[in-house]
Amino acid sequence: MSGGCEPTTSVGTASMAQTITKSRGAREPVTGTALSSRKKRPFLVDIYSTAVGKKYAMAISGIALMGFVLFHMIGNLKMYYGAYELNNYAAFLKELLYPLAPKGAVLWILRGGLLAMLVLHLHAAWSLTVMNRQARPVQYQSPRDYEVANFASRTMRYSGMIVFSFLVWHLLDLTFGVVNTVGTEGEFVREEVYQNVVRSFDRWPVAAFYILANLLLGIHLRHGAWSLFQSLGWNNPRFNAWRWAFATGFSLVVVIGNISFPIAVLAGIVKV
Ligand code: HEM
Repeated sequence: MSGGCEPTTSVGTASMAQTITKSRGAREPVTGTALSSRKKRPFLVDIYSTAVGKKYAMAISGIALMGFVLFHMIGNLKMYYGAYELNNYAAFLKELLYPLAPKGAVLWILRGGLLAMLVLHLHAAWSLTVMNRQARPVQYQSPRDYEVANFASRTMRYSGMIVFSFLVWHLLDLTFGVVNTVGTEGEFVREEVYQNVVRSFDRWPVAAFYILANLLLGIHLRHGAWSLFQSLGWNNPRFNAWRWAFATGFSLVVVIGNISFPIAVLAGIVKV
């Protein structure tokens, strides 16, 4: 019969004893954590190799990305003032600190930082998932096991992946213009940001996709903004009411602002 405990053979016992004696005699490390090559790794890489370090990386990169989505939304509010204001604002971003710094230099540095934060966020999420799977190879069998995890926390991976695919579309649409003129008339001119936005959202399936993606972004942000405090170790129950208010308020502001843009174009409030 298979299963249950197999009787230990004398050969097995002998080889096990030999292994123990050998490792004791040579004083080799018992686990991989004490390998000498690990000691040479830079401090930050060493921290990042642990689950706690990855959670820190998720939280810090998450804060940077939250800052970006908030300021991006606030900047886009300029479209309510008309084409001149929004296009001027986009031109202003490209000339940040000019003539102190060359034209576009500061914007490219900010873009580099943003990209680094995005890559770090995605890598930490992916490697934490791998670590969790290795720690628990058998999936939960009953939905009751999920009692402590709410909908947002269980779907972070999926909401994150959909927001990421939205971002790919978004860049092809409004930054590179590759899909901006598909199904519509007109020419994509990089500097005419206002006209590009209106042209894009005039297509209702695109507007609907933006609304859906931003609702998912809201769910993702809401849980991320709540759990980053936990990841950074600031999870005293006395602050829970503040954490709740901050996470809910922040995600609502970003989502309401962002979904107002496609709605305003569809409703004819923002038009060319
Ligand atoms: C309906 C909401 C949104 C609108 C109207 C909007 C609008 C725009 C526009 C017009 C640009 C091009 C700017 C330029 O070329 O000067 C842009 C770029 C960008 N957007 Fe959005 N955006 C929205 C939501 C988002 C969200 C939710 C994210 C992130 C998840 C995002 C991430 C980006 C990024 C990374 C860029 C490239 C920035 C750069 O190249 O400097 N956007 N957006």
